[in-house]
Amino acid sequence: MLKDHLKLHKRVILYTQIMPTIRFAREGRDVNCQIGENLREVALREGLELYGFKGKIGNCGGYGQCRTCTISIESGGSKSLSPTTQVESDLLKKSPKNWRLACQALVQGSAVVLTRPQSPPKDLKKLIDIANSVKLPN
Ligand code: FES
Repeated sequence: MLKDHLKLHKRVILYTQIMPTIRFAREGRDVNCQIGENLREVALREGLELYGFKGKIGNCGGYGQCRTCTISIESGGSKSLSPTTQVESDLLKKSPKNWRLACQALVQGSAVVLTRPQSPPKDLKKLIDIANSVKLPN
């Protein structure tokens, strides 16, 4: 019985090790998700404030038309999310290179992200430093 429990525990550890973690720096939350999950859906599922005022009043529902679901990737590398879509390239062409549209991005690995980078918090640097001080699992 104890052996079975140990096997199960090892399987759970292995499973959680292959699940990417999205660390939402502003909210101070780590969220495990499946590879291929849509980042907008992950944030909404977790009840996080993905949208600012304008996005709350009216967003396109994840169809890549409003630009209100912008996030920035603060660490984790370019392979943490699916490649930039043409929609993102068009809508974010004047934005910093690390900005993405959450509705267009699929999770492929762990990353630290900042929601609503267009309205950064006063203590942005401190938040990012804290988020990056703990190693991401994958
Ligand atoms: S929700 Fe409108 S562009 Fe992402």
